[in-house]
Amino acid sequence: MSVHSKIKRITVPEIRARKGGEPIVSLTAYHAHTARYVDPYVDFLLVGDSLGMVMYGMETTLGVTLDMMIAHGSAVVRGTERALVVVDMSFGSYEESPEIAFRNAVRVMKETGCAAVKMEGGARLAPTIRYLVDRGIPVMAHIGLTPQSVQVMGGFKAQGRETDEWASIEADAQAVSEAGAFAVVVEGVAEPLAAKITAQIDIPTIGIGASPECDGQILVLEDMLGLSPKPPKFVREFATLGAQIAGAAEAYARAVRDRSFPAAEHTYSMKKQNS
Ligand code: KIV
Repeated sequence: MSVHSKIKRITVPEIRARKGGEPIVSLTAYHAHTARYVDPYVDFLLVGDSLGMVMYGMETTLGVTLDMMIAHGSAVVRGTERALVVVDMSFGSYEESPEIAFRNAVRVMKETGCAAVKMEGGARLAPTIRYLVDRGIPVMAHIGLTPQSVQVMGGFKAQGRETDEWASIEADAQAVSEAGAFAVVVEGVAEPLAAKITAQIDIPTIGIGASPECDGQILVLEDMLGLSPKPPKFVREFATLGAQIAGAAEAYARAVRDRSFPAAEHTYSMKKQNS
């Protein structure tokens, strides 16, 4: 028997139990190798449908398909061994009915090996969350600025900046918590409202452009690496990889043009011929 035991992944109940405790660290990931680099440092990785914009150059997430989520979800599961992996349900794959949501979420879990799915929506989604959780599918909810509703909202707009908007966002948070979601992403919500919701509900809140008082934070990996052309205002760039990539491409182009690449010692010589 091997003396090396396989590293156990962080579980859904472990994330749920972090309510009010040590902050939950999470990032998005779409790609096996980058996921492998961040795996030791995060509690969960979200294969977000933001991949439509980040990986495919789309204007919104609306064109992302379930097959795209499954392809990238499988890559991230293959590239990691420690973090819990959550995969976003694409626009149109879960809103119609709890039964359709269940069927598509089962496909995502079976075909990627992920541990949970994420869906956008508050009170209106509560019956679907309950239906899935009762049938063995852990659900992370997503409230506030929900990018799949961009056409209804008329743009990517921060939510809860007027106090008269607060009650419905608070009701959304309460509804998804009571329906059995194990955590909820709170995106683009005014800071005092995000802090208030965090204090009010029983499940961890995962903030993005919300409040440091949330139970955890998530960022789009490419945004925090300095790879996004126009990152949102709340993003802190923890690296400047965009500039490094451009510098590397420039150095490579120079080496090709002055014929210093590949270096002689790295080329293949002919095999010795027997005479
Ligand atoms: O799709 C995504 O990446 C997300 C995060 C920004 C929370 O939903």
